[in-house]
Amino acid sequence: MGCVVVTRRLPEGGTDPLAAAGHDVARNDGDIPFTKPELCAAAAAADAILCVLTDRIDDDVLAAGGDRLRVVATVAVGYDNIDVSAANARGVAVCNTPGVLDETTADLAFLLILAASRLAADAERDLRARHWTGWGITQYLGNDVHGATLGVVGYGRIGKAVARRGAGFGMQVLHHTRTPTGMPGYVADLDELLAECDVVSLHVPLTADTRHLLDARRLGLMKPTAVLVNTARGPVVDEEALARALEDGTLFAAGLDVYEHEPTVHPSLLAAPRTVLLPHVGSASRATRTRMARLACDGIVAVLAGEQPPNLVRV
Ligand code: DGY
Repeated sequence: MGCVVVTRRLPEGGTDPLAAAGHDVARNDGDIPFTKPELCAAAAAADAILCVLTDRIDDDVLAAGGDRLRVVATVAVGYDNIDVSAANARGVAVCNTPGVLDETTADLAFLLILAASRLAADAERDLRARHWTGWGITQYLGNDVHGATLGVVGYGRIGKAVARRGAGFGMQVLHHTRTPTGMPGYVADLDELLAECDVVSLHVPLTADTRHLLDARRLGLMKPTAVLVNTARGPVVDEEALARALEDGTLFAAGLDVYEHEPTVHPSLLAAPRTVLLPHVGSASRATRTRMARLACDGIVAVLAGEQPPNLVRV
């Protein structure tokens, strides 16, 4: 049986499939991310690594794993923290956790759509600071979500789950992907979609092509009344340009769960008005995080048994 390094504390029962398959589990129960030397040292003694998105699995870590390391599984659908090409070149399989977090992440995206549109964070902050002096007819005038046009950028499982919620809220729903979907609401030109929508929600993976997909120019195409929501990956948006747009009032509001340099949040964003900021909790329900951990384990169990894992990442 193999030795599996688990790089962070996981929800209770999350590693049950490893134990059931008889693997030894070496845990980092402290929940403080491994430093790079610690990660390399852990890899050197492992047949498999069960990691999370805060672990950078680069070629140094893979090299430290040597011939023994056979699989890296991340407890996330996004795998931009793993050098998949380097892993594949070394014969190391990479697994992720697609399909089990879609509805939970879509719930969170919708929470941000509602909260940002209705200025919930500004209003709550004032109330908690005892700045609320009583009801006023012109206070915290936000945007209606019902009847608004929602633009979903990236139309995979999570994007579709957000689109379903939008339709349920009486929104008109458009979507954009590079490859035509052939589905109603498809807009081939991202610029056109941005100019047309009242709410834009991002659901693309982070790749070289999507880094700063929403840059100053594209943010400038959005309506000054529009709301931007990002639950995908921080670097998909140019944070500095976004903060400027919010400050200048060329964009109405933003709801963010992810940041360019996590856990650091750009100071201009922290200071920006009409902004809801959450600490990367898109998939953070007990049930979903447990399902994600177990699915990542299933990948490891399959690879170590010489079988095709259900969740193999291909590049
Ligand atoms: C993911 O799965 O990629 C999320 O960002 C973490 O749940």
